[in-house]
Amino acid sequence: MKKRIILAAAVLFVCTAAFLLTARSEKEGEQEAPKTSIRIGLLLYRGDDTFIGTLRSSIEECAKGYEQQTGIKVTLDVMDAKGSQNTQNSQVERLISLECDALCVNMVDRAAASAVIDKALAAGLPVIFFNREPVEEDMNRSDRLYYVGADAKESAVLQGKLLVDAYKNNPDSLDLNGDGKVSYVLLEGETSHQDSLIRTEWSIQTLKDGEVPIERITGGIANWERSQASALMEQWLLEYPGQIELAICNNDDMALGAIDAMERNGVAFGAIRLVGIDGTPAGQEALKAGKLLGTVESDREFYAKAIFEIAAALAAGEETGYEKYVWCPQRALTESNRR
Ligand code: GAL
Repeated sequence: MKKRIILAAAVLFVCTAAFLLTARSEKEGEQEAPKTSIRIGLLLYRGDDTFIGTLRSSIEECAKGYEQQTGIKVTLDVMDAKGSQNTQNSQVERLISLECDALCVNMVDRAAASAVIDKALAAGLPVIFFNREPVEEDMNRSDRLYYVGADAKESAVLQGKLLVDAYKNNPDSLDLNGDGKVSYVLLEGETSHQDSLIRTEWSIQTLKDGEVPIERITGGIANWERSQASALMEQWLLEYPGQIELAICNNDDMALGAIDAMERNGVAFGAIRLVGIDGTPAGQEALKAGKLLGTVESDREFYAKAIFEIAAALAAGEETGYEKYVWCPQRALTESNRR
């Protein structure tokens, strides 16, 4: 009897071990099997932001190209937070519940990234932040956190330099009334965005370093928006008639808004020179039409490709081949090298 019990226990033990081993190797087999589909969440701070909209289209193109190349199906869930961090936090939860494999996040409030990181890490998801950079402390919380962006100081120095070059070539091209000073107004992006402060600071610094005799008339915050910039510029045109020679804009959309105000108020192109940043399609059109003196284009293909490739690689469980911080190449565009 005792022998039989021992034998039965031994058989049970061997069977259980064999079952567990099979189950484990089946699971390992599953993990090793290449993925046939991936799901990526793309969260935008505002879907109606021009630059972000163009980036979104380029990311969608990358996803199509990837599907064709690899045969792996990509589901890209695009969510617009419409400027609300609370909405974006709920969208993160929703995408986690949809079993996304990776999240690409354009934070509404870049200082609020830790809540997004908490949720993503708890669900085992990597996050590729872009355009609105979280603080270093947040970024250092995991090696599955990436940032893709365009260096703000570089954009500003390029913007400043194109003005320095224009002045050196012909001072009258900026000092339109020949009084020995270039009188300017400044249109700035959101105060909470790292790019606004840095772009403003370095654009002006570059003009000073290039010995352009600048004089600030006024400036204001238009939150990257064409309509807000247009309203501000209209006010300044009335307040400082005939005095503004240059409008330095933190992005193209605000420059376009200033141009709208000039058109509405019968101010001729060339009576005020304007510069922007982004090189959006509308910005490039304005450059072509001679309404914009220059802009700084970020390589959107590179930008979108980096965001998508990092997300796709991590979603598929592969190496990304990218550093934690990826900086997208930029170049100044003027009449002489525009497309
Ligand atoms: C900036 C860009 C702006 C706006 C902003 C949104 O880098 O120049 O046009 O898109 O990002 O975060």
